[in-house]
Amino acid sequence: KNIVILISGRGSNMEAIVRALETERWPARIAAVISNRADAPGLAFAARHGIATAVVVNKDYASRAEFDAALQTAIDGFSPDLVVLAGFMRILTEPFVTHYAGRMLNIHPSLLPLFPGLATHAQALAAGVREHGATVHFVTAELDHGPMVLQASVPVLPDDTVETLSARVLEQEHVIYPRAVRWFVEDRLTLAQGAVQVDHSK
Ligand code: GRF
Repeated sequence: KNIVILISGRGSNMEAIVRALETERWPARIAAVISNRADAPGLAFAARHGIATAVVVNKDYASRAEFDAALQTAIDGFSPDLVVLAGFMRILTEPFVTHYAGRMLNIHPSLLPLFPGLATHAQALAAGVREHGATVHFVTAELDHGPMVLQASVPVLPDDTVETLSARVLEQEHVIYPRAVRWFVEDRLTLAQGAVQVDHSK
């Protein structure tokens, strides 16, 4: 299976997936890591691991539609079976999302449906919830609302800051995202008529 990973920055989730694929010998390869920012630190890690990299800068395009079309061309050049959004900080257009229906995953740092959008850790602290976490979901046109695959929760502690809470959540992201991607490349995870199915018999 060919995986294309999209990043915008640090790329620690991408790194967790690359490391799991290498150590657990998944039936898959990372065909490319694509960033919308030329200075994304994650690109250097990918290059060091012999993974093809590409940059498609959103600011070079006049509209979201044109950017998404260029991004789609870049992605499809690597014939992906799965597209993995890993800290990819762009809102995607409906035609783009439809093109990858059932074969594009995202990780969102909250227990969806709570706290979609940005600054999820600050939102969680402001709301005073006792539990927070992360969600892997299939991507659909509505931001952070696609069918959920996996969640991990962490406690919110009384003296938490955005920094301490986000670090606790990130640690769990690095567990659940590789797990979900592995299920997909092993043909155990599918989206059928909008419903997530996971085959645990394999
Ligand atoms: C992660 O918390 C991810 O859930 C969020 O952005 C962060 C990206 O981190 N959407 P990284 O680039 O994977 O290190």
